[in-house]
Amino acid sequence: MLNLDLILAERRRDTGMNLIDLPIAVLDSGVGGISVLRELVRVMPNEHFLYFGDSKNAPYGEKTPEEVLHITRENLKALLARGIKALVLACNTATGSAARTLRAEYPELILIGIEPALKPASLLGDRPRVLVMATPLTLRQEKFCALMGRFSETSEILPLPCAGLVELIEDGKLCGEELDAYLKNLLSPHQNTKIDAVVLGCTHYPHVKDQIAKHLPHGAVILDGGEGTARETRRRLLEADLLRTEGEGHVEILNSSNDESRIALSQMLLNR
Ligand code: DGL
Repeated sequence: MLNLDLILAERRRDTGMNLIDLPIAVLDSGVGGISVLRELVRVMPNEHFLYFGDSKNAPYGEKTPEEVLHITRENLKALLARGIKALVLACNTATGSAARTLRAEYPELILIGIEPALKPASLLGDRPRVLVMATPLTLRQEKFCALMGRFSETSEILPLPCAGLVELIEDGKLCGEELDAYLKNLLSPHQNTKIDAVVLGCTHYPHVKDQIAKHLPHGAVILDGGEGTARETRRRLLEADLLRTEGEGHVEILNSSNDESRIALSQMLLNR
């Protein structure tokens, strides 16, 4: 186990930076977490962000929980060595597989995860029917089963694993025939049914929200956890006296893939 205080103290000595000025790290299996980063920047415009997209290892959602924990732990170690003041795990799959263990391993670290937005969905009317789109691993995890248990009294929850959708988004296929055919095949069984809410339980999916909407029954509300995660991050930093409230914030984007186009895609998605 690494000593976080020691790492941060060394980092501060190297850079002459105050802890409050260190970046907030945002981690995902690729370009998905940019949908969360967008909300983070909106809610905390004075903060610095270090985004790490692990496209080399995507998709996490088709790996085992042990593999995702191992990869996430290694990525966190690399981010800590650069100097960060908090970690936003902008990935539902990694939150389910790794957040609890990493919180125990780094008790001093402010670690914020993301989970499918079942809570706001369950409030949409009288026993709403809620479709939950997520990776196969997220929907198999104990964390999601517990969440589903909490809300299935008040809502009818329909989990929908979306194997293959992350790959299309990672390849930049954000519209067009291939994506459309995929979504039609996935969502046509639900198109003529009553669906009150659709939860985007993977941070990649908000990037194709308009395309998803075209294949849903009229009136279905689409929700994701990006804004809630950004607000929770702000609350945690404020509580720890680590919220930057003045000065210009900046964003640095890194990616584990050698393919330069991932960085360009991330920038494009951030500015969209
Ligand atoms: N964006 C991630 C999530 O929220 C996972 C994507 C993947 O399968 O790599 O679950």
